[in-house]
Amino acid sequence: MCGIVGYVGNKSVTPLLIEGLKRLEYRGYDSAGIAVVNDHGMRVSRSVGRVSVLESNVMPTDGGNGVEPFDGCLGIAHTRWATHGEPSEANAHPHTCQTRCGNTVAVVHNGIIENYATLRQYLTKKGYHFTSETDTEVLAVLIAELYEGDLESAVQTALREVRGAYAIAVVCNREPHTLVCARKGSPLLIGLADKSYVVASDASAIIEHTTQAITLDDYQVAKLCAGMEDKTTADGGPWSVDFKTTTIDNLPVTHEVRELEIGLEQIELGDYPHYMLKEIMEQPESIRNCLRGRIDQRENRVVLGGLGEVSRQLVHAKRFILTGQGTAYHAGLIGEYLIQDLAKTPAHSEYASEFRYRNPLIEENTAIIAISQSGETADTLAALHEAKDRGALALGVVNTAGSTISRETDAGVYLHVGPEIGVASTKAFVGQVVVLTLMTLYLGRRKFLSQEALQSHLAQLERLPQHIATVLEQSDHIRGCVERWVDRDNWLFLGRGYNYPVALEGALKLKEISYIHAEGMPAAEMKHGPIALIDDGMPVVFIATQGSQYDKVMSNIEEVKARGGTIIAVATQGDREIHRYADSVFEVPDVPEALQPLVTVIPLQLVAYHAAVLRGLDVDKPRNLAKSVTVE
Ligand code: G6P
Repeated sequence: MCGIVGYVGNKSVTPLLIEGLKRLEYRGYDSAGIAVVNDHGMRVSRSVGRVSVLESNVMPTDGGNGVEPFDGCLGIAHTRWATHGEPSEANAHPHTCQTRCGNTVAVVHNGIIENYATLRQYLTKKGYHFTSETDTEVLAVLIAELYEGDLESAVQTALREVRGAYAIAVVCNREPHTLVCARKGSPLLIGLADKSYVVASDASAIIEHTTQAITLDDYQVAKLCAGMEDKTTADGGPWSVDFKTTTIDNLPVTHEVRELEIGLEQIELGDYPHYMLKEIMEQPESIRNCLRGRIDQRENRVVLGGLGEVSRQLVHAKRFILTGQGTAYHAGLIGEYLIQDLAKTPAHSEYASEFRYRNPLIEENTAIIAISQSGETADTLAALHEAKDRGALALGVVNTAGSTISRETDAGVYLHVGPEIGVASTKAFVGQVVVLTLMTLYLGRRKFLSQEALQSHLAQLERLPQHIATVLEQSDHIRGCVERWVDRDNWLFLGRGYNYPVALEGALKLKEISYIHAEGMPAAEMKHGPIALIDDGMPVVFIATQGSQYDKVMSNIEEVKARGGTIIAVATQGDREIHRYADSVFEVPDVPEALQPLVTVIPLQLVAYHAAVLRGLDVDKPRNLAKSVTVE
């Protein structure tokens, strides 16, 4: 989704901001813009399309047709993912407005200003003209209207009038060494670098400069200043940096500096052609990290430090609600099966967006598990708030340390799979299912699960990185098979039991990056309508591993075969029977049913990846998608 970068310090800001925007490209966007301030004024540029277009406008390499590169030590920049108004230059950020005394204010914004129509009407009556269809421009105009020589104060006053969600960074040419930023409901970090501050909506745009950062809380405003203390000395004098945090009501706030837990190498491509492939291939390692320290073999127990304080409440929980969006929802569905099956406790999973608005019933001793890679998904956060308000114990299964969901839950377990850059979630899904499995075993052992059953599951989990590595070795084979059907525009994914959510996930992956229409469903459901779709050669992917429903799945395979469909099967190693029916077989190691999703999803990730590459698509920047959706 939209991305923010801001910088104030002692370096030339334009290349820093452009580099920061490139780091945020993976989040998804359709236009970009920048505002740079120096002692002589402010320059703004906005463009539709890739950051490289903006880069060539503000840092021309060919002499720039007389256009001077943007120069200054203070600036803000933005990648926009359209919500209000189409992707266009006029709607791109920063939005600017002249104050009554002739200064210019520029604003970049993530989130949605809900009362923008009322504010726009009010400001129009005051004589302001609007040049875009965005809610953000209203905020820029409001700050300009309230500006009386103190940017921080104008921002605070403006934000007291605003309803909705925002992360903003604001500059004014009258204060060429000051950046003001604020947040409510949309993430914003401030990196404390050497003689400078870097503001960003995502840690990946900061870690090149520093690992020391502050996470702003809701309704907080930060004023960041950097500049020469004494301009009269020849070398510019000593450099001073200063910042303070307040609330929008101007009450002082003590900020806490924390260490960002990601390394630069984790967000760089290395030798891989795409982040998605890198993240798929690195799963043995990332899952090893996810499991690290969480299985105590000698004592035969699961160690989840994040749940220690709520373990009694967990045991007494009468119901679990698992919620999330997209891939995280699919992980939640598997969690539902796990908790009911192994911990014998009622559980149900639901899209956060649906849960939130249907007046959900939260009985006593209910726990909600919010599942999210980013920890910032607006729908998931809203569902969490709703359940908390109704008395539920709030748990998080989150990848991004320090994210909003992780901070707003009572307890939780981090995935520890490292930052996920590929828009199509892969390693985070497997990490989510691993964590939900561990949580289930943790809970189950305190309830009905025998020592033996626990031991056997833990032993299998320990072997998981190796199992995944075995499946990954088939990447070339999978590519060869996909090549045969990649021109087909409609695919079905079918599975039963634990592998039904995997079918949903396989279909979602294929849709997201290859733009092939794909549907996932329980294999038995096919007969109740979708079978009408099956025609000559239609690819139907079955998850047909050994287990309690193997025979039933085989019957479904025969039904498709009889109608001319192409059968692609994910099957257990050594299953000879399946080769008689399937046109292609991807093998996975033999693991207990409850753990099968952790291996059966891997070939489906590779199917989606290879299909997109074979179709010549930009795997890491799929059209219209955002990595983290911070609006409801
Ligand atoms: C977006 C992404 C999906 C992701 C979903 C939930 O739609 O494109 O890949 O599964 O958000 O994201 P979260 O960060 O909450 O896991």
